[in-house]
Amino acid sequence: MKEYTRQTVGYYNEIANAYAEGNAAVVLRDKIDMFTELLPGNKILDVACGPGHDADYMGRKGFDSLGIDLSEEMIQIAQRRHNGRFEIMDFFNLTFEDNSFDGLWCSSALVHVAKKDLPQLLTDFRRILRDNGILGIITVKKQRILKDKDDRRKYIMYSKRELEEQLGNKGYEILVSDMFPYGGKDRLFLLSKNKK
Ligand SMILES: C[S@@+](CC[C@H](N)C(=O)[O-])C[C@H]1O[C@@H](n2cnc3c(N)ncnc32)[C@H](O)[C@@H]1O
Repeated sequence: MKEYTRQTVGYYNEIANAYAEGNAAVVLRDKIDMFTELLPGNKILDVACGPGHDADYMGRKGFDSLGIDLSEEMIQIAQRRHNGRFEIMDFFNLTFEDNSFDGLWCSSALVHVAKKDLPQLLTDFRRILRDNGILGIITVKKQRILKDKDDRRKYIMYSKRELEEQLGNKGYEILVSDMFPYGGKDRLFLLSKNKK
């Protein structure tokens, strides 16, 4: 496991209950609905699902959703609260077969990916996404934020252009690229198609 991932996930293990009760763990239905409308099939992986609210919402919509997260505490909460499938897994070590999913939902997870590690992660996502599969991303847009001194998380923000370039370089076709404010921060919302 990467050292910064260990630190980040350790932090989430400590705050999992508070996170699950807070306004970060709210389903942004309009965004997920746009994502699911584009899917070529019904298999979805919620990458870094946290307490599982998004995977649960997609499951209730009739999709076959699986949530993964490296925080045991988050996965325990997800399993306790929801009926769906949830597993502990590092997104830097995805053990799925090629072309396993019609959609990857990645909400508030790229903030925990170092810039040098993003290209390989986008390649790994392409491997497990089938042809015409959709990658849905919500992440914090580059801006000035004040970080608590006890906050040990890796926290990386991308500009819209930077993220679009990274996706384009890896051969994704960008279908939607928007900004929206939520929880006091500007966020990016991107939907991209995997062309194999
Ligand atoms: C801000 S939370 C997002 C949770 C959920 N997706 C949401 O939108 O509310 C970030 C999550 O990423 C997880 N995480 C961070 N690095 C990870 C990694 N390498 N593999 C799997 N999960 C990771 C953390 O444990 C945490 O649950």
